Amino acid sequence: MNSTPPQITKAVIPAAGLGTRFLPLTKATPKEMLPVVDKPAIQYVVEEAVAAGMSDILMVTGRNKRPLEDHFDRNYELEEALQRRGDQDKLNSVCASTELADIHYVRQRDPKGLGHAVLCAAPHVGREPFAVLLADDLIDPRDPLLSRMAEVRARLGGSVVALMEVDSDAIHLYGCAAVEQSAAGGDGVRITELVEKPEPGTAPSNLAIIGRYLLDPEIFEVLRSTSPGRGGEIQLTDALRTLVRAGRPVHGVVFSGRRYDTGDRAEYLRATVRLACEREDLGPEFLSWLREFVRAEELAPV
Ligand code: UTP
Repeated sequence: MNSTPPQITKAVIPAAGLGTRFLPLTKATPKEMLPVVDKPAIQYVVEEAVAAGMSDILMVTGRNKRPLEDHFDRNYELEEALQRRGDQDKLNSVCASTELADIHYVRQRDPKGLGHAVLCAAPHVGREPFAVLLADDLIDPRDPLLSRMAEVRARLGGSVVALMEVDSDAIHLYGCAAVEQSAAGGDGVRITELVEKPEPGTAPSNLAIIGRYLLDPEIFEVLRSTSPGRGGEIQLTDALRTLVRAGRPVHGVVFSGRRYDTGDRAEYLRATVRLACEREDLGPEFLSWLREFVRAEELAPV
């Protein structure tokens, strides 16, 4: 009998939050459509899922879902216009998002929290394990994360969450995990407790949950009976804590690579600047402007 857990092919991308940190932009535009250089943030996340072998993507959308659907759909008029002009590069870039994966949509009518958004995916996901990728968390493709998480799940089963060490004064902004070394050794730590946005000074560790999860479908059952927690929202962290306390296997993979929280304005700006600087087509010119700009700022009287 082969006991290796099946390869995960379904990914859920919750994108129904209100995005209040980006108001007024998010009044009519989902924050997931914010450009990071010249691609919307969510396209990087879909590309990451596809690169990890996921071919079936479910987006949980709310109001303002049209731009998301349009971005991953065909745009015949634009394609024809670019074809007529013979602009093959631009045509390729327009078609890339359409051809990435099989993308489905489900609506979360009320933004009742991340846990509730994940529960909206239950009919589509069924009884398979699945991934959750938060659309406002951008992981640099050069720093592997999902593949490490899949390896831990294949070895230890259950659910796996991505963790990142953050400063003590920032941990209250995240879900926080207490961990111990896994008895099996290797990559991955066993999670012993979880707290959503701990009160300052009460966090059990500096390990924050970041937006990548590989979940066993048993999470749906737990989410159905999870009451609203922090902020009156149904929290995914609370459901995972129920699994931990029931002795179910929940492991963490500690990530120390490049990650940008594009739902936060300052981080979003940093991500845009950094990725623009690294681009072959834009980087050299942009970087030399940036150097000049910083020099002038430093010289400017305060
Ligand atoms: P966040 O808390 O970062 O997103 O949720 P938010 O609520 O949209 O942002 P702010 O704090 O008001 O600026 C993490 C992820 O979960 C999704 C969000 O879209 C985001 O990708 N989410 C959150 C949902 O899909 N539904 C919800 O009810 C809440």
